[in-house]
Amino acid sequence: MPDSPSHAPTLEVRDLQVHYGRSSALTNISCRIPSRQVTAVMGPSGCGKSTFIKTLNRTLELTPKARVRGGSVLYRGNDIYASACNVDDIRKQIGIIHQRPVSFPMTIKENVLFGARFHKLVRRADETDYARKYLERVGLWTEVRDRLGAHAATLSGGQQQRLCLARTLANQPTVILMDEPCSALDPAATRRIEELIGELERDYTIVIVTHNMSQARRVSRNALFFYDGRLMEAGPTQQIFEDPRESLTREFVTGQIG
Ligand SMILES: Nc1ncnc2c1ncn2[C@@H]1O[C@H](COP(=O)(O)OP(=O)(O)OP(=O)(O)O)[C@@H](O)[C@H]1O
Ligand SMILES: [Mg+2]
Repeated sequence: MPDSPSHAPTLEVRDLQVHYGRSSALTNISCRIPSRQVTAVMGPSGCGKSTFIKTLNRTLELTPKARVRGGSVLYRGNDIYASACNVDDIRKQIGIIHQRPVSFPMTIKENVLFGARFHKLVRRADETDYARKYLERVGLWTEVRDRLGAHAATLSGGQQQRLCLARTLANQPTVILMDEPCSALDPAATRRIEELIGELERDYTIVIVTHNMSQARRVSRNALFFYDGRLMEAGPTQQIFEDPRESLTREFVTGQIG
């Protein structure tokens, strides 16, 4: 559980620069991600949203040629890119659900327990109850309760998306990064995930990338608007939608661009 006061930013990004090979993907990004609130990341396709959230827990460096060329990301005041920083610990504390989540080549139950076992968060005897708790949270339990030993690849795309969310939650992170978590879900499953985000907000800091403007309005308190690798505007979601400072932001939120 986070121990920082709710007004302090959990994450602070300072002058971040990211390249893929020689081409720049993010330029001079600075922002604060407040504690125990939902921050939405918005912007047209290709503007750098996925790149940005992957810099927040050092998963970007798993992509060949991707490089943080400058700046820093502070998690509770400590630079996660400092050489003394333990990357495994950062990725446990700051969990991510990728845009195209990949279930691991193992059973449904083993998927949920994968990180929790690695980080010794669960005792052998309690594993089934532990897996059930997180499968229930993402609304998947009733669909999989009779097939926990089946291979995860036998699940549908939307079920795998929720399985990956359960796997991340089971790691007991303090920050959850979600890259379009509802992209493969029907309206009922989307509603369940939005309700879950509302519940999680009490205890976790959440960053959600979404293309869905009404979803951003429903679930987030703060919003970041990216355009062409730059952070154009940041502020309370209501202000970004109703009274943006930048004309590009207005054009985006009213559907004229992107
Ligand atoms: N592995 C990669 N190698 C080279 N360039 C990349 C790579 N991944 C992303 N890019 C480029 O970096 C820019 C930002 O990509 P990113 O995936 O962050 O965009 P996005 O805002 O998440 O887009 P979308 O809404 O389509 O998911 C794009 O121009 C993209 O083509
Ligand atoms: Mg993306």
